[in-house]
Amino acid sequence: MAHALIASAFAVLEAHRVEVHKHTISELFASDPQRFERFHVRLDDLLFDFSKHRITATTLRHLVELAEAAELPQRRAALFSGFQYNSTEKRPALHMALRNFSGRPVMVDGRDVMGDVLTERARMLAFAGAIRDGAIRGAKGDRFTDIVNIGIGGSDLGPAMAAKALAPFIADHLRLHFVSNVDGADLADTLKNLDPAKTLFLVSSKTFTTQETMTNAASARAYVAKHLGEAAVGDHFVAVSTKLDKVAAFGIQESRVFGFWDWVGGRYSMWSSIGLALAIGIGAEAFEEFLRGGWSVDEHFQTAPLDKNIPVLMALLGVWYRNVWGFAAHAVIPYDQRLARFPAYLQQLDMESNGKSVRFDGTPVLHASGPIIFGEPGTNGQHAFFQLLHQGTEVVPLDFILAAEPTKADAKHHDLLFANCLAQSEALMRGRSREEVEVLLKASGMSHAEVTALAPHKVFEGNRPSSVLLHKKLTPFALGRIIALYEHKVFVQSVIWDINPFDQWGVELGKELCNRLAPIVADAKASTSGLDASTAALIGYKRNAAA
Ligand code: F6P
Repeated sequence: MAHALIASAFAVLEAHRVEVHKHTISELFASDPQRFERFHVRLDDLLFDFSKHRITATTLRHLVELAEAAELPQRRAALFSGFQYNSTEKRPALHMALRNFSGRPVMVDGRDVMGDVLTERARMLAFAGAIRDGAIRGAKGDRFTDIVNIGIGGSDLGPAMAAKALAPFIADHLRLHFVSNVDGADLADTLKNLDPAKTLFLVSSKTFTTQETMTNAASARAYVAKHLGEAAVGDHFVAVSTKLDKVAAFGIQESRVFGFWDWVGGRYSMWSSIGLALAIGIGAEAFEEFLRGGWSVDEHFQTAPLDKNIPVLMALLGVWYRNVWGFAAHAVIPYDQRLARFPAYLQQLDMESNGKSVRFDGTPVLHASGPIIFGEPGTNGQHAFFQLLHQGTEVVPLDFILAAEPTKADAKHHDLLFANCLAQSEALMRGRSREEVEVLLKASGMSHAEVTALAPHKVFEGNRPSSVLLHKKLTPFALGRIIALYEHKVFVQSVIWDINPFDQWGVELGKELCNRLAPIVADAKASTSGLDASTAALIGYKRNAAA
């Protein structure tokens, strides 16, 4: 039933697109003085401006009808209720419990898990505090100055992104490092300038089997043993995982193991003990503020009407462009250098969640699913890929993320940063017509022939959509809010596409093949027969290079 309703909602949107296409966004602004009022939503000091889009009030109505046809309110309620939403892994997806300040229970298998959540958080924050204030020290009695998180994917990207985003909130005597790549250069370059006696390693892995993390952890262990002696290992290692038995086998003492639960997906885990590095850096109070930011969005997502609901709007705009206009990519551009890692974090959140081709029931998706997500901070991106965004043949809708005030940065710089962001959003929308270009070129003194030759290159088609997420300042609370907005946006899109956003089978095949190839690569005498000709020849090249 829902599928038929979704199909007819999409049919309505397809027909409506033809109407919308008759007018540019600039024309829509010109004809409606209330346009900004109509198409922005506030959540406390956060302002989501979605007025520079190819939409009218009717578009919004039809998009909300699509969400209703896909039973978004029911699915949202199911998600929060602890229903086994992640059907292929037979578990709920309840990362929201980690930031639940409502006092309401969160049920998993008929049991309220909030007690466990609060206990583990308190343990983790107490430990973080003891590292910060020097109550817990290294084997030789030194205060820890450097915290090295070893993890990958969801056990790295979130905390690493947040550590950079919240740099001004990190205690001056602490430095946070993140090692993820199995490329030994990552660990080697990180350790190069560290004092082992003052370095604490956090091995962060939900499964505690991930090849990259286990390889890096073993090398880090050997480094500690070499410099401080085998007996020092226990004082310099901490683990964060859901697999406590596997951690015990690695040799990390129980009091230094912080857990979470299988109902927290890896890419949604930074709210759990996976946030330990961040908690050490910014302290318990700021970490709780971060959680509260996420929680405020959970409340908004569950209670705001769909047409005033920021993550719902973000998602529906994405669906509008992905499915009805056929745009394949989506750019997220924080005008905030400290959010430099946010696009990378978001790539996992969005593309690992919605980069799927089948629906819940295993049948093919009926519409294109997750877009290609990319981004870089502004203004840097302007001097790289923005050329394509302005004049390329592919239309790429954008999100700009912007703070009204700088956090520990020069106000004049910030004014320029701010102006650049708005200028880009305006330029993308407004464009510059052939006529306008010709007038400008003529006024600069060019001949008719020169104008004719140059004008086409200087035309900007315009009508390119963007949203602006404007907030007051990048604080822990504000960061928590931004992350949760995107988490729910991804969820809403998965509902429209009928995708399970909480599994990630697409990463398995490569892992499996690597397990088969690794011994062949490591042993120059191992046979390559049975491998495809390309793979065998590439291994052959490596063997010759080493000979
Ligand atoms: O790349 C797949 C993946 O399973 C991610 O989903 C996950 O965040 C990452 O690997 C790391 O996994 P773990 O925390 O178990 O080491």
